Amino acid sequence: MGGDPMSSTRSDAFVLFGATGDLAYKKIFPALHSMARRGQLDVPIVAVARPRWSVEKLADRARQSVKEHGGGVDDAAFARLARLLRYVEGDYEDPTTFERLRRQLDKSDSALHYLAVPPSLFRVVVDGLGRTGCASGARVIVEKPFGRDLPSAKALNEALHAVFDETAIFRIDHYLGKEAVQNLVVFRFANTFLEPIWNRHYVESVQITMAEAFGIEGRGRFYDEVGAIRDVVQNHMMQVVGVLAMEPPATTYHESIRDELVKVFRQVRPLEGVDVVRGQFRGYRNEPGVAATSRVETFAALQLHLDSWRWDGVPFFIRAGKRLPVTATEVIVELRRPPVAQFAPGKGNYVRLRIGPEVSISIGARVKTPGEEMASEPTELSFVRRPTVDELSAYERLIGDAMQGDATLFARQDSVEATWRIVQPVLGNATPVREYEPGTWGPPGADRLTESVGGWACPTCE
Ligand code: BG6
Repeated sequence: MGGDPMSSTRSDAFVLFGATGDLAYKKIFPALHSMARRGQLDVPIVAVARPRWSVEKLADRARQSVKEHGGGVDDAAFARLARLLRYVEGDYEDPTTFERLRRQLDKSDSALHYLAVPPSLFRVVVDGLGRTGCASGARVIVEKPFGRDLPSAKALNEALHAVFDETAIFRIDHYLGKEAVQNLVVFRFANTFLEPIWNRHYVESVQITMAEAFGIEGRGRFYDEVGAIRDVVQNHMMQVVGVLAMEPPATTYHESIRDELVKVFRQVRPLEGVDVVRGQFRGYRNEPGVAATSRVETFAALQLHLDSWRWDGVPFFIRAGKRLPVTATEVIVELRRPPVAQFAPGKGNYVRLRIGPEVSISIGARVKTPGEEMASEPTELSFVRRPTVDELSAYERLIGDAMQGDATLFARQDSVEATWRIVQPVLGNATPVREYEPGTWGPPGADRLTESVGGWACPTCE
């Protein structure tokens, strides 16, 4: 069994399964480069993948990835990273791949294995690690989605537990490691003025929009097995709902944030068809790797009902999709209108929390329109912080935490199961999928969901 609950031994090797894949390219190599730049990377990086590559070819790809997605290459840091790279080529179904890995890990007794592979391969990799002794004393990071639905999430968990202790399992949902999502927690609990209004008495509705202007970008095969609900709603969006809706965590207990999150997920009613609108952008079916008759959604809009003391009756809306007009993730917490309509004839009291690309917090307020009349107009008081090259990316933060054995910002199995339970009734083709034009806000039917609260709020766009 891997892992030791009481130890915080730093992992002494980093094993990357799926090293030639998309996730490694976009997120993991840039994170490793950044760690090297900060002087925090000094263990062998053993890349595992199927292609017959030399370690030099892998290093070239890593350099390209850092150039494209890591804000530029720092030559000295990259040289340190490249010196640590090893490459094990092989099929995951082939037992000799793991034997070769075992030999590479000769001097290691507490490796961290990162499974940046499609969910269908998790099991075979975990079994391979267990069989060859590579799991002994080790930790494992599994990428979302954890399973395809509630039963498969449970089965995956059993497969993981057959080889690793719970304390050695790190289920990564990079939203939890985002600076902006941590900021939501701090903003909520570090400001006294917020707590009295953060409930059903003052909040009319909550909207979360995760808009991406880009499409599938070569990930057709993966995406067509998954779709928007499994890709981002069941995990990233639900984490945002969790931090917005949770009760204050106890500060003295290290599991308290995860405890509060799961309590929220258990209060969310399982979705019904009427609460969900699915869309697919026109042209999706022509993407490489996508079935010509695919009914997988690239857009989902939905309404959640929270059966909780704090939130009863307050709708939480989520809208997430590809090929939308902008790339922006934003939360709007709309407050109820004041009673005298003369002062506030329209909307305008809200908190806008921007999660990306930049981090911002704005308070929507109404002020007097200059002139003779007692009329008001909306304005925003904003705090904006643009990410700097130096900022810790979610992946860098989370890889660092997992190497230290700190699981606070990783999804716990009870949360994973609770969030699957929410989306389970609307997975697959339980609801129709409607076509939308690329560059629009999804299919027209999505507007129906938010009609009662005055429609969707458009993210602020620069
Ligand atoms: C990933 C999804 O988990 O998150 C992608 O698989 C999505 O489809 C991405 O684009 C968004 O992450 P971020 O950090 O760029 O907002």
